[in-house]
Amino acid sequence: DQRRQITETLAEFRLTNDQLLEVKKRMRTEIQNGLGKKTHDNATVKMWPTYVRSTPDGSEKGDFLALDLGGTNFRVLLVKIRSGKRRTVEMHNKIYAIPMEVMQGTGEELFDHIVQCISDFLDYMGMKNTRLPLGFTFSFPCRQTSLDAGILVTWTKGFKATDCEGEDVVGLLREGIKRREFDLDVVAVVNDTVGTMMTCAYEEATCEVGLIAGTGSNACYMEEMRNIETVEGDVGRMCVNMEWGAFGDNGCLDDIRTEYDRAVDDLSLNPGKQRYEKMCSGMYLGEIVRNILIDLTKRGFLFRGQISETLKTRGIFETKFLSQIESDRLALLQVRSILQQLGLDSTCDDSIIVKEVCGTVSHRAAQLCGAGMAAVVDKIRENRGLDQMDITVGVDGTLYKLHPHFSGIMHQTVKELAPKCNVTFFLSEDGSGKGAALITAVGCRMREQEE
Ligand code: BG6
Ligand code: GLC
Repeated sequence: DQRRQITETLAEFRLTNDQLLEVKKRMRTEIQNGLGKKTHDNATVKMWPTYVRSTPDGSEKGDFLALDLGGTNFRVLLVKIRSGKRRTVEMHNKIYAIPMEVMQGTGEELFDHIVQCISDFLDYMGMKNTRLPLGFTFSFPCRQTSLDAGILVTWTKGFKATDCEGEDVVGLLREGIKRREFDLDVVAVVNDTVGTMMTCAYEEATCEVGLIAGTGSNACYMEEMRNIETVEGDVGRMCVNMEWGAFGDNGCLDDIRTEYDRAVDDLSLNPGKQRYEKMCSGMYLGEIVRNILIDLTKRGFLFRGQISETLKTRGIFETKFLSQIESDRLALLQVRSILQQLGLDSTCDDSIIVKEVCGTVSHRAAQLCGAGMAAVVDKIRENRGLDQMDITVGVDGTLYKLHPHFSGIMHQTVKELAPKCNVTFFLSEDGSGKGAALITAVGCRMREQEE
């Protein structure tokens, strides 16, 4: 009977093929709304223009600084790109911590900290007095009006610094730089999906889609200008940052959200927002798991019915732990030792249930992400009037890279839901910093041409 009740609880997370097709269809509707002039303002999936009009062609060159803010690690990078017959990209980078107080403090503190890290990096590289062009990977929704202007629409994930929403983040960065009395030339603001697409496209020209399955979840792709009604002009293509994490914020996924999804949302920094992201990205999967475990414990099926302080702690199940727990090579004894490390005393039966819960939650996440991607690639195929299409998706993110099953299930789902597309996933080895440098290179060239 206990077994039956656990199975019933988890059954809600098992989506049928029809449900997944429905998710794909709804994503397609939201894409249309985000692109349309009349529908954009009320759209949830915003489809922001990025002012990136092509993928790299190999002629990009120069030395650039890049910032990479918004994922697991905040990094400052120096990227040296050589063009010509022997194209090379040399990268140096340093990871800096952003303390929680700074992520959720004032905007000025946040940008002072960022600038402090740049300054430290320049010292470290021994290049204090060079004025290099800088590309700013800023992985949050921005309304861009040009390559180097982006208004933060709303913080997502774990950030909540004051006085930034509604402001141009390039302006905030420039002001921070001025306060430290040094000089840098901020040329581009770039979403991580776009940086990832560009990084991959530099190696593989058929890459015209970027996907992040990490702390957050999002995608971008090359859309036809004629379809982007929020930007003047009908010629050529532009990359759009979908901000698909907000899919469902109008209630369109309510029929598949469970009470656990609602609990995670309610307790988050941004209730009601990023509902799709909260079902499929690393920052929230562990929270869904934790909420299910609490419920199963309350009902007496787990941990001898005792809800420990640990289990009440938000954020304990990070992506890396979920990934370890689900690893097939791991014996149950090792699952127990991971739980032990987290401060959870488990029996053998407990560990079996915990593993099953993790598997169920991550399976749904991968399928939902795949359903979204299926909508994207089919849209591109239709744009091009093709019956069958080959396309490459550049991917990055800790969930994609660390989790033992996420990528496989996601690929399989895309294959089943978009059978007319032959999709290759290309893992980004260098993160989005390299892509940001490539975009900065193009930005510098365009500026020279205008002068
Ligand atoms: C990389 C980037 O491309 O992937 C990060 O360089 C980005 O800045 C990240 O946000 C997504 O992964 P995660 O798992 O660190 O959020
Ligand atoms: C969040 C951000 C988005 C980013 C994604 C992945 O959804 O809003 O801009 O691309 O996380 O990092």
